[in-house]
This record gives sequence, C-alpha cells and structure tokens, in this order.
Amino acid sequence: MRDHVAIHVRHPRATSRQDAWWLAPAATAGGLFLLFGYLTFRALHPVYVWWEPYISPAVAPPVFTAADGPPGSVPVAHAWFGAFPSWWPAFVPQSPAFVLPWLAIVFRVTCYYYRGAYYKAAFLTPPACAVRGVSRRYRGETAILVFQNLHRYALYAGLFLLMALWWEALAAFFRHGRFGVGVGTIMMIVNAALLSSWTLGCHSWRHLIAGRRDCFSCGQGMSARYQVWRGSSWLNERHMLFAWCSLVWVVLTDVYVYLVSSQVVRDWNTWS
Ligand code: FES
Repeated sequence: MRDHVAIHVRHPRATSRQDAWWLAPAATAGGLFLLFGYLTFRALHPVYVWWEPYISPAVAPPVFTAADGPPGSVPVAHAWFGAFPSWWPAFVPQSPAFVLPWLAIVFRVTCYYYRGAYYKAAFLTPPACAVRGVSRRYRGETAILVFQNLHRYALYAGLFLLMALWWEALAAFFRHGRFGVGVGTIMMIVNAALLSSWTLGCHSWRHLIAGRRDCFSCGQGMSARYQVWRGSSWLNERHMLFAWCSLVWVVLTDVYVYLVSSQVVRDWNTWS
C-alpha cells in the first residue's frame, strides 16, 4: 500500500496495474493516427481518386470538383453541381472532400466508441475502465468536451452520406452506361455495407428508432420497429468491430482506386 502511494507521488499517471495495460490504448492511438492521417492527406491531395466508374470514398460524394484538377480528379460531369464556384474561399483547397465528406470525420470523431478509444489512447482520464489507482479525477465530457453531444446531429449527416455512398457504389456497376462489374465495384459495395453496419449500430440511431418507446407491442407498426431495433442492437454489440473494419476498408478502397487510376495495377472487370 505504501509503495502505491509512493508511485502516485512520483508519477501522476501511475496506476496499480502491473501488466502492460497501456499496450492496447497505444496500439489504438497508432492505428487512429495512421488511418485518420492518411485520409486527411488524401483529402488535401485528391490525385487519382477517380477511374470511371470508381470513386474514392475519401472524396465521395463529390458536390463540386476542380475544373482543372490534378490527374485522376473527379470529372466535372460526375460532380453534383459541376466545378467549384467562383465564391469558393481561396484558402480552402478545391477538393471534393471539403464540401460534404468532411462531415464523416465529425460523425466518426464524436462516435461513442471512438471517444472512449481516443480518450484511453491519448492517456486522458481515465486511461481504461479496468485500470485502478489513477491519481487524476475523472471529469466526464464537460467543458470543451460538451461538443461531443453533436453526435446525435452528426448522425443525420452520416445517414445522408451513407445513402450517397450506396448511390456511388451502385453507379459503379455502369461503365460508360454499360452494365458490368469489376473489383472496384465490389470494393465500393463492401465499403458501403461496412459503413452501414457501423452507422446502423450507432447508439444515437438505436435511440432514434426506438429509444423513447416503453412498449414494443403497443400501437401500429411496432413489430416492424422492434425488428429494426433488434437488428440495430445486434450491430451495436459489434460497434467497435465495424468501426475499425469500416475505417480500414475506406482506406483500402481509396488505395485501390489510386492504384487503378494511376495505372499501377489493372482492374479486373467485365467491361474490358
Ligand atoms: Fe458510434 Fe454513433 S455511437 S456511430
């Protein structure tokens, strides 16, 4: 007991755990830093993000695109509203990622799972629920962290982006108007499916569809609502798994589009 007191005095973040409990948070920090860092870089440098009919999820959906963009840019004809307008601020890069896709970052960063993960990964308080003996007091999500409450609103953006990504994935079955399928199509479909599994297991979504109900057998349509809620609960139990799988797959899909668009690898498809 005395030893523990002495440890706390010397190291404010010391705990009574003797094992390498910090390993998992450190790995989480490394993973998040790498994946978010990569996607931020791609948002800032949107080269080779397009190869008809594939589009990288780093820049999808493209509301605007640069009229004279770098190689492999999203073509003006594919952007919802064409080229970036003249009023677009000069200090914001003309990357489609800065119009709508950045909302995905807000949705992800405020996700309950990621919040827990990066609080622990950044060795904030508490470092982990199972770690006893932390000397700093847990203050919860107060002060500046109140912005985390944005998540319930970011969900609406997340749902909208999800529909847009499904649209892009289904459009990837058509190359120059001809139906077919390629490896990129499958990558984009899996990407949309994994993002759906993560989004539809969201705590806010689960609350939205049934959180205020006390009785699932009262009223019309409750049985359908109950089934949707059960499905969401199943996904919610695996929320961490889908959070990671969807994030990794977004990166893999972007890398694949980059490699095909820059002609480093050849896409296997039924069109050629
Ligand atoms: Fe993770 Fe909402 S809690 S997406």
